[in-house]
Amino acid sequence: MFFKGFSYLRFLLKSTNQHGVHSPFVFDLITKCFYKKTNTTDIQNYKKFKIDLLQNTNTIEVTDFGAGSKVFKSNRRAIHKISRYAGTSLKRAKLLIRILNYFTPNTILEFGTSVGLGTAALHIGAPKAKITTLEGCENTAEVAVNQFKKFSYNNIQLISGEFKQSLLKLDIETPLDLVYFDGNHQKEATLNYFQFCLQHINNNSVFVFDDIHWSKSMEEAWEEIKKHPKVKVTIDTYQWGFVFFRKEQEKEHFIVRV
Ligand SMILES: C[S@@+](CC[C@H](N)C(=O)[O-])C[C@H]1O[C@@H](n2cnc3c(N)ncnc32)[C@H](O)[C@@H]1O
Repeated sequence: MFFKGFSYLRFLLKSTNQHGVHSPFVFDLITKCFYKKTNTTDIQNYKKFKIDLLQNTNTIEVTDFGAGSKVFKSNRRAIHKISRYAGTSLKRAKLLIRILNYFTPNTILEFGTSVGLGTAALHIGAPKAKITTLEGCENTAEVAVNQFKKFSYNNIQLISGEFKQSLLKLDIETPLDLVYFDGNHQKEATLNYFQFCLQHINNNSVFVFDDIHWSKSMEEAWEEIKKHPKVKVTIDTYQWGFVFFRKEQEKEHFIVRV
């Protein structure tokens, strides 16, 4: 708690808005995507998906694969509670939808499906993209798959299993246009998934890392990612870290309030 408070204070002191940014690519991203309004129909569609989960009072036994939960004490969890506390918030879902509208990715990979809230935002923002999402807990994955069927989200493939094993099963024919890392929030694991995905990028690929300030080790992972020679531009928005590989850009790191 103390760690997050301190890191947020540091973020506030260092962060800027579009006025502190001289890169045209980042300026456009901030003004035409980050600070834009989300399409109303997209918001309504996301809310329908989320409300349906929030009304689901069934409970499931959850297998914890990640860095553990700071909210749940027991592994027997109600689906409406998982949706409320572990899933993407409305604010984040809206930003994700805008990012997809802006970059129009064709191939998307998500680490950590949970009950499918982030995946729903990915689908709504890019309904024609090929979306692959990975989830370790079988019971949680089953909830997500049923939810995608119920809402006819037919462009999503869920691979159930530990990420390391699932990555071996991935059939990546075309480069990954967007990767959303929202699974195992631990340094070594994050860097391993990053290294794996790096083999499948193109010049315009976008990586989005969730919770880069979640812990000291996640901050260390973020610093290593920034230093990687293939990484050109990064944007720290506190909750999410964005990574771009555009060869035409100078290497530069931004800290932006969203
Ligand atoms: C924060 S939740 C994902 C939230 C989801 N992306 C959303 O936006 O609603 C992280 C999920 O990743 C899964 N996970 C964490 N580490 C994993 C691993 N090593 N292998 C497989 N699944 C893992 C957990 O089971 C959990 O459901």
